[in-house]
Amino acid sequence: MSLLARQMVFVTGKGGVGKTTVAAALALAAAEQGKRTVVAEVGGAARAARLLGGTAGEPGVETQVGDKLWTMTIEPWKVLEEWIARILGSRSLTGVLTRSNFFRAFADAAPGGMELGTVVKTWELAQRARWDKKSRPYDLVIVDGPASGHAIGMLRTPGTFADIARVGPIATQSQRVREWLEDYRETAYVAVALPGELPVTETLELGKRLRKSLGRRLETIVVNGVLPDRFTPEELEQVVGAADGSPVATEIRQADGRADNQHEQLTRLEADADCPIHELPFLFTDALTPDDVAGLADVLRDVL
Ligand SMILES: Nc1ncnc2c1ncn2[C@@H]1O[C@H](COP(=O)(O)OP(=O)(O)OP(=O)(O)O)[C@@H](O)[C@H]1O
Ligand SMILES: [Mg+2]
Repeated sequence: MSLLARQMVFVTGKGGVGKTTVAAALALAAAEQGKRTVVAEVGGAARAARLLGGTAGEPGVETQVGDKLWTMTIEPWKVLEEWIARILGSRSLTGVLTRSNFFRAFADAAPGGMELGTVVKTWELAQRARWDKKSRPYDLVIVDGPASGHAIGMLRTPGTFADIARVGPIATQSQRVREWLEDYRETAYVAVALPGELPVTETLELGKRLRKSLGRRLETIVVNGVLPDRFTPEELEQVVGAADGSPVATEIRQADGRADNQHEQLTRLEADADCPIHELPFLFTDALTPDDVAGLADVLRDVL
C-alpha cells in the first residue's frame, strides 16, 4: 500500500535532521496528486507554511498555503477540552466529569494529556465527519512530529488512556484512536535520518520501539542531507564550509561528514532496517526555499 494512500503519515526523527522539511515535501507531493493535504505541526514552530510558500496561521487554525494544501500547529489542550466535551455530549459536563472516572484517569496520566491532545487532533483532521461541521475533511494528514525520543511516548498515550479509563466513553474513544494508529491501512510512520552513525543507530532503535509499542514498522526511512560522492575530502570540506551555519551542515560535520562515511552508515542502515530507504540530497543553500522543497518533493514522488 502506497505511503500517501494512508489517512495519516507521522514523520519523526532526531532533532534537526529535516523532519519539517520532509513533512512539507511529502505534503506537496500528495497535494500535487490531488489529495487535500494538511501538515499538522507538533510543538508550535510553525515552519512548514513558509517552506510551502505560504504564511502560518494562528495556532490551532488550519490555513491554506497552496493548492489543496494546508498547514496548522496543533493546540493540544484546546483539542483535549473539545474532545472531552464532545465525548460527554450535551449532558451537564461537570456532573458527568465528576461521576465518570475521567478526572482520576486524567490525574493519573496527566503528563500524557498534551500528547493525547496532539494525537487526537491528528486523528480528528483525518475524519470524514469533522468536529466543526464547517470544516471539510482531508484526504491526508502529514504530521510533523516530535523528535523520535518523544514520538513513541506520544503515540502510546491513547492506549494508556484507554487502559486507565478501562470502561466508558473515554476508554472507547481512546481505544478507537489507538486502533487507528495501529492500523497499517490508515496510518504510516516515516523516520527521517542523517547518514551519520548516531542518527542511524537512533533510527534503528526507533524502528524497534515502534514495533514494540504499536506493533508497527517504519514505512520508509528518508535519509536526508546525502552528499554527492564526487568530492574529494578536501573539496567536501570546502562545500560543507560554504553551507556553514545550516544545522544539517553541522550535523554532517559532526558525523565526520565525508561522503564515504555516509556510505558506510547508509550500508549499515540498509542491512538492519526492515523498510525501504530513500535518499534526499544535501542542498548547498543558506536557507531552504519553497523551490528547494518542491525539488525534494520531486525526488520523493519518484520513489514513493
Ligand atoms: N536536504 C537538505 N539540505 C540542506 N539543508 C537542509 C536539508 N534538509 C533540511 N535542511 C536544513 O536543516 C535545518 C533543519 O531542518 P528541519 O527544520 O526540517 O529539521 P527538523 O528535524 O524539523 O528540526 P527540529 O527538530 O528543530 O524541528 C533547516 O535549517 C533546514 O533548512
Ligand atoms: Mg521541525
